[in-house]
Amino acid sequence: MLMGNRCYKFLRLFSSLFIYALLFVQLVVVVSGKSWDGIIVTEADYQALQGLKHDLIDPKGVLRSWNNSGYGACSGGWAGIKCVKGQVIAIQLPWKGLGGRISEKIGQLQALRKISLHDNFLAGSVPWSLGFLPNLRGVYLFNNRLSGSIPPSIGNCPLLQTLDLSNNLLTGPIPPSLVNSTKLLRANLSYNSLSGSIPSSLTKSRSLVILALQHNKLSGPIPSTWGASGTGNHSYQLKILTLDHNNISGTIPISLSKLSLLQQISLSNNQISGTIPNELGSLSRLQILDLSNNGVSGSFPDSFSNLSSLVSLNLGGNRLDDQIPQSLDRLHNLSVLILKDNQFIGPIPETIGNISGINQLDLSRNNFSGAIPASLVRLANLTSFNVSYNNLSGAVPSLLSKKFNSSSFVGNLQLCGYSGSTTCPSPSPPPQILPSQPPESPKKKHHHKLSTKDILLIAAGALLVVLLLLCCFLLCCFLRKRAASSGKSGKISKHASAGSTEKAISAGPEVQSGGEAGGKLVHFDGPFVFTADDLLCATAEIMGKSTYGTSYKATLEDGNQVAVKRLREKTTKGQKEFESEVAALGKIRHPNLLALRAYYLGPKGEKLLVFDYMPKGSLASFLHARGPETIIDWPTRMNIAMGVSHGLVYLHTQENMIHGNLTSSNILLDEQTNAHIADTGLSRLMTSAANTNVIATAGSLGYNAPELTKTKKANHKTDVYSLGVIILELLTGKSPGEPMNGMDLPQWVASIVKEEWTNEVFDLELMRDAPNIGDELLNTLKLALHCVDPSPEARPEAQQVLHQLEEIKPDVAASAATSAEEPTKSPPPPPPPPNE
Ligand SMILES: *[C@@H]1O[C@H](CO)[C@@H](O)[C@H](O)[C@H]1NC(C)=O
Ligand SMILES: *[C@@H]1O[C@H](CO)[C@@H](O)[C@H](O)[C@H]1NC(C)=O
Ligand SMILES: *[C@@H]1O[C@H](CO)[C@@H](O)[C@H](O)[C@H]1NC(C)=O
Ligand SMILES: *[C@@H]1O[C@H](CO)[C@@H](O)[C@H](O)[C@H]1NC(C)=O
Ligand SMILES: *[C@@H]1O[C@H](CO)[C@@H](O)[C@H](O)[C@H]1NC(C)=O
Ligand SMILES: *[C@@H]1O[C@H](CO)[C@@H](O)[C@H](O)[C@H]1NC(C)=O
Ligand SMILES: *[C@@H]1O[C@H](CO)[C@@H](O)[C@H](O)[C@H]1NC(C)=O
Ligand SMILES: *[C@@H]1O[C@H](CO)[C@@H](O)[C@H](O)[C@H]1NC(C)=O
Ligand SMILES: *[C@@H]1O[C@H](CO)[C@@H](O)[C@H](O)[C@H]1NC(C)=O
Ligand SMILES: *[C@@H]1O[C@H](CO)[C@@H](O)[C@H](O)[C@H]1NC(C)=O
Ligand SMILES: *[C@@H]1O[C@H](CO)[C@@H](O)[C@H](O)[C@H]1NC(C)=O
Ligand SMILES: *[C@@H]1O[C@H](CO)[C@@H](O)[C@H](O)[C@H]1NC(C)=O
Repeated sequence: MLMGNRCYKFLRLFSSLFIYALLFVQLVVVVSGKSWDGIIVTEADYQALQGLKHDLIDPKGVLRSWNNSGYGACSGGWAGIKCVKGQVIAIQLPWKGLGGRISEKIGQLQALRKISLHDNFLAGSVPWSLGFLPNLRGVYLFNNRLSGSIPPSIGNCPLLQTLDLSNNLLTGPIPPSLVNSTKLLRANLSYNSLSGSIPSSLTKSRSLVILALQHNKLSGPIPSTWGASGTGNHSYQLKILTLDHNNISGTIPISLSKLSLLQQISLSNNQISGTIPNELGSLSRLQILDLSNNGVSGSFPDSFSNLSSLVSLNLGGNRLDDQIPQSLDRLHNLSVLILKDNQFIGPIPETIGNISGINQLDLSRNNFSGAIPASLVRLANLTSFNVSYNNLSGAVPSLLSKKFNSSSFVGNLQLCGYSGSTTCPSPSPPPQILPSQPPESPKKKHHHKLSTKDILLIAAGALLVVLLLLCCFLLCCFLRKRAASSGKSGKISKHASAGSTEKAISAGPEVQSGGEAGGKLVHFDGPFVFTADDLLCATAEIMGKSTYGTSYKATLEDGNQVAVKRLREKTTKGQKEFESEVAALGKIRHPNLLALRAYYLGPKGEKLLVFDYMPKGSLASFLHARGPETIIDWPTRMNIAMGVSHGLVYLHTQENMIHGNLTSSNILLDEQTNAHIADTGLSRLMTSAANTNVIATAGSLGYNAPELTKTKKANHKTDVYSLGVIILELLTGKSPGEPMNGMDLPQWVASIVKEEWTNEVFDLELMRDAPNIGDELLNTLKLALHCVDPSPEARPEAQQVLHQLEEIKPDVAASAATSAEEPTKSPPPPPPPPNE
């Protein structure tokens, strides 16, 4: 305490010494006849500042430094004052808690250029005398409690550039004289209670860049004289025009289209009527257009597809009707499209799916009809989507229904597949393979509320099934009889056809239904002996659907199980080409590649492929759809990773083939949890259109290398990328299908590793054993990140991946076989169906 007092005294002594020293310097300056620049304030300005201080309330004592000695005013001693040649040029006291009012004496500060008192509690009116300040350039009085009207005198300030009086309590009209400030760039009068109409004189300003009048009580029409006297190209500078939240009526003036630099127009929440002028389509720099919540009618202008800079378009809450143009996809930069609450009709243009940057799409409460275009699933950045309350029908593309809840889809009577109570009627079962149970899981069924329509559909389906069963039964009996009597047809006969080991049976004209020619079953080598009718009469269960077709688990008469893939019709190549390709695929044999055992060509061109059945289902369901108590340990995961790598190396080096669609849904697991890569070479059986579709699907599920979006051509390096994603999936336990904070799995992992929180990426289960396997996990993670390098050249070959995995864990194969656990008691759920 004592010390403190002494210190204080010393400081005071020191500071007074300092002031004397300062006075001495000034004296020397005066005596030597030098200028007084910035040191001593002029008498007029001193008086004006005293007057200002007098009318201000200063609870925080900010103005204590404005004391009687005028010497300090211009030497930096007075808070917030700047001078030149003893004249005040700026008053800057924002966020100082100042109350009271701004004295008219401010008009005496003839050199004043800038007054910045924003974010205080100033009341009273804007001083009339500001209009006497010939040098005034900036007025920043926003966020106060100023009332009264804006003094028209302000237009007398010839150099005024910025007038920001926003967020006060100002009333009265906008003075037309503002246009006389011919240097005015920014006028922000928003968030007040200004009334009257917008002076048409403002439309003549060649200097205004920003005119913000939103949130007032302005009425009357928008002046129609924009750019009236403008002939040259850039004679008008206006870039931002915000008039929203007023009572403005009338129509949208065509003349706005003359303001060629406009970037933002907001007229929302007014009472604007009439149609949208087609001419607005010429505003090539327009980025934001908001006409929402008015009474605008007519149609969506065709010319809007010329608004190539547009980022956000909001026409919601109007009376617009007719169809929206299909050429919308020319708006490459659009990210927000809101058309809700209108009367638009017709289909949702498929081309919206081409506007890749869209993140908000609200088409709710219109009369849109037809289906939700499948193209919308391509919109990877879509975070807000709403088509509720329209007249849409058909199935919601599955990716959309996964991403958005039913609130985005309700109110469309004929729309299905977006919630438990709106499941779509399943497609009628294929005639050859009869599902013994419907594809839905029992859980879903529990919540299923049946409408009359559903019941009718189910009844029809059941009838069909019974009829087909009858047919099959009769057919089987018929065939057996014939086989017994003739002892020839319907039996497998071995043909050593040149250069192949096929055992083929031609069902021949004996297998006939309704007079049509029968099908053809071709076996490759394998443990199974079955005939075409064995296969066709087998009980079958749908396992999953993919772009290539539907997979079934079929149980043959003798109890053996096979997996049957029924290829989607019209997506396969013609019969000749198909048969030569499939014959090649049937010869590929490797323990980690799912073996193709046979194929069947039906009389109507149906194509079935018969594979080994894998009891543990896909890796995707093994990892992501297991019970909470099921642990998948590190050796098991490593064994899978090595199995997949083995298979891929064989494919790349021995068969000289690209897989092209490697995903965890395509990795199947046998009883010992060994990996078998499925769908190998299926692309060779398909038309190129079907293959492009597969690339699009896999991409949205997160396995596609980034360069594929451009090249569309899979190669060794894109396969290695997919392998890397699968290894990451095994390490993290996360599904690449679900984006994490907008990042895909590789980006997410990379971001966490970059932050040096590497341990956070691993599946929690694995971390339990971390002390023992930490190095193995880290080295595997490094390898996987190497595989998903954005640059294809940087990725290793599959061979190198396998080699490094073997180095990381040489003993895995032995231990994996004993530690693998049964994933779940119930049969594995089908792999997630990719979008259609
Ligand atoms: C005037 O203000 C200056 C700067 O804050 C201060 O040092 C000085 O003591 C004040 N003088 C009086 C008389 O209040
Ligand atoms: C105008 O002022 C309001 C309220 O202070 C502010 O929110 C808005 O961003 C300003 N507009 C422009 C274009 O500066
Ligand atoms: C602008 O100034 C001129 C001359 O000082 C005056 O005649 C005119 O009325 C002013 N314009 C407005 C809109 O106040
Ligand atoms: C645009 O204006 C500039 C001068 O401001 C002129 O040189 C140019 O020729 C004009 N261009 C057109 C297309 O009018
Ligand atoms: C779009 O702009 C081009 C070139 O400026 C013009 O020819 C075309 O008519 C415009 N389209 C519409 C629909 O206005
Ligand atoms: C679209 O956005 C990009 C990135 O913001 C920008 O570089 C480009 O100029 C924009 N295109 C148009 C036509 O405005
Ligand atoms: C949808 O169209 C029907 C028939 O054209 C009409 O009766 C109905 O009012 C429209 N609904 C909306 C919300 O525009
Ligand atoms: C736009 O989308 C349509 C339909 O979805 C498609 O046919 C067309 O090729 C796409 N165009 C571009 C340039 O991507
Ligand atoms: C999607 O969003 C991300 C992050 O905001 C952005 O980097 C990316 O460019 C966007 N994609 C498209 C196609 O606009
Ligand atoms: C709904 O769409 C169907 C065609 O899909 C049409 O026949 C029907 O009139 C539409 N209903 C309304 C109210 O617009
Ligand atoms: C649906 O999602 C929206 C936002 O995505 C959320 O606000 C809303 O609560 C959700 N509704 C339901 C029923 O889950
Ligand atoms: C979708 O739009 C409807 C009606 O406009 C609204 O009630 C609902 O909350 C919106 N849902 C979402 C998820 O935005």
